[in-house]
Amino acid sequence: MSCVSRDSVMSNVAKRSLLVAASMIATASSVKDVVAADARPFVSYGCYQCHGYSGHGGSSGPRLSADVPYEGFRQIVRFPYGVMPAYPRELLSDEAMRAIYSFIKSQPPAPDRKDLPLLYDTSK
Ligand code: HEC
Repeated sequence: MSCVSRDSVMSNVAKRSLLVAASMIATASSVKDVVAADARPFVSYGCYQCHGYSGHGGSSGPRLSADVPYEGFRQIVRFPYGVMPAYPRELLSDEAMRAIYSFIKSQPPAPDRKDLPLLYDTSK
């Protein structure tokens, strides 16, 4: 009898801690999803490799402007005019395109060139 009740106490404790753990995971993943929802496609489709993690420009891609209207942005990504690879709909859905666009829009502007002495002060 006492053994049974201890078992049920243990299982209640176990159940409760499972619930707590599950709700912590649920909270963590939903916060993470909100924060990263727009960033993920920019990384997973490889844009960051050329344009940098914040779209401020990288080794081979220019800084991406947040002021371009969506239609123009989409046109360039589907039919780029230079060496950038094209991203047709089969590779990049309209939904992912929108997510990438809003990620770029959400980035704080890059610092002004005159605020970066390394770019113009060759005495250092
Ligand atoms: C292999 C390198 C590379 C990758 C990967 C890449 N880009 Fe580009 N992107 C470039 C280069 C280089 C340019 C400049 C134009 C050209 O030469 O094609 C450019 C231009 C652009 C432009 C126009 C910028 C302007 O001001 O004219 C946009 C918008 C853009 N890329 C978005 C993207 C997005 C979104 C992705 C991911 C889906 C991506 N790029 C992936 C290299 C890349």
